[in-house]
Amino acid sequence: MNITVRLRRQASRTSEANFQTYQIEVDPERTTVLDALIKVQSEQDGSIGFRRNCRNAICGSCAIRVNGKTGLGCQKHISEVMGDRDEELVLEPMQNLPVIKDLIVDMTKFWDNLQQVDPYVSTASRQISKTEFLQTPAQRSKLQAAANCILCGSCYSECNAVAVNERFVGPHALAKAYRVMADNRDDRTDERVEKYNTSGFVWDCTRCYNCNEVCPVEVQPLDRISGIKQEILANRDLPESTAQRHRHTMVDLVKEDGWIDESKFGVRVLGDNFRDLKGLLSIFPLGVRMVLSGKMPYPWKFQKSEGADEAKALIEAIASLKDRNHQK
Ligand code: SF4
Ligand code: SF4
Ligand code: FES
Repeated sequence: MNITVRLRRQASRTSEANFQTYQIEVDPERTTVLDALIKVQSEQDGSIGFRRNCRNAICGSCAIRVNGKTGLGCQKHISEVMGDRDEELVLEPMQNLPVIKDLIVDMTKFWDNLQQVDPYVSTASRQISKTEFLQTPAQRSKLQAAANCILCGSCYSECNAVAVNERFVGPHALAKAYRVMADNRDDRTDERVEKYNTSGFVWDCTRCYNCNEVCPVEVQPLDRISGIKQEILANRDLPESTAQRHRHTMVDLVKEDGWIDESKFGVRVLGDNFRDLKGLLSIFPLGVRMVLSGKMPYPWKFQKSEGADEAKALIEAIASLKDRNHQK
C-alpha cells in the first residue's frame, strides 16, 4: 500500500515550521509508524530528526503526535492510526514542549516538573538492618499501574491543564507522586499529602481524561491523581483548602437536599461559611446578578429533590464502605 507521510519540519528552535510530504510503500498491518519514519529517513531524507531507541514500547523515547494524538511510534501499526478516511499519515512533535528540531522536543520542563513531586521513596526505607524490606503482594499491587510509567511524555503532550497552566506539574509527575505515596516503605506520606494539596498539583487537573486515553502502558494517570485526592480528602488534619471544601460541600449539599443549592454552594465554598470575607465579596456580584435575574432560590423557596432520601442513603452507604475498606 502506498501512503503519504506528512511531516512537520522545523530546522531549529527559532525557525518557522512547515509540512513536507513523502510517498512510501508500507504493509499497514506490519509496518509501525516508527518503521515508516525510519524508511522515509533512510530512503528519502536523511535530515529528518526524531528520537527512538528500543523499538519495543519500553524506552519511551519515540513519542510523537500521529494523526492528532500522541503515542509511541513503535507501538502502533499504520492500520491502527490511519482510519478509512485518513488520506495521510500526519506526524508532528509532542505538544506543550518546545521543538528542538522536527520531531525532537526539549523535555527539560517535563523532567523538572517530575522533580517537583520528589519522586523517590524516602531514604529511611533504605536503612535496612538485617533483612530485606519485603512487601506483600497486596502492598505491591497498589503500585503496579503507576510503576509501569516509561516517562514517554504522551500524557504531558495531550494535557489540557499543562497547556494553559504554567505551574501544573503534569500527569506523569502526579502518577509518580502516587507511586511513592502509596509505597508502604515511604515514611513521608503526610508531608507529601500536604504538598500535593497545594497549587500546581492535583487540584489543577481539569479531568479531561486525555492522559488516560493516550498512555501506552495503562498507567491511567487520572486514576492515580484521583487516588491522591482521596488521600487528601480523607486527611482531616490538613488545613482545608478551597478545593477540599468544594468536594466536601458538594457531598454535604447533596446529602442534605438531594441536589446542589448553588446559592449555599458559593457561600460555603468561597465564603467558607461566612468566615472568609474576601471570598464572600468575590461572589457578591454574582449574587446580585442571580437576584436580578430571579435565579436566587431563597431558603424558604428551595425545594428538596424528590430523591433526597435515596441520595442520602447512597452517600452514607458509600462512606461506610470506604471506612470498611480503609480499616482492612
Ligand atoms: S485528566 Fe488532568 S492530568 Fe490528565 S490530561 Fe486531563 S488535565 Fe491533564
Ligand atoms: S503516564 Fe503513561 S503517557 Fe504519561 S509519561 Fe508515563 S507512560 Fe507516558
Ligand atoms: S523506541 Fe522505545 S518506546 Fe518506541
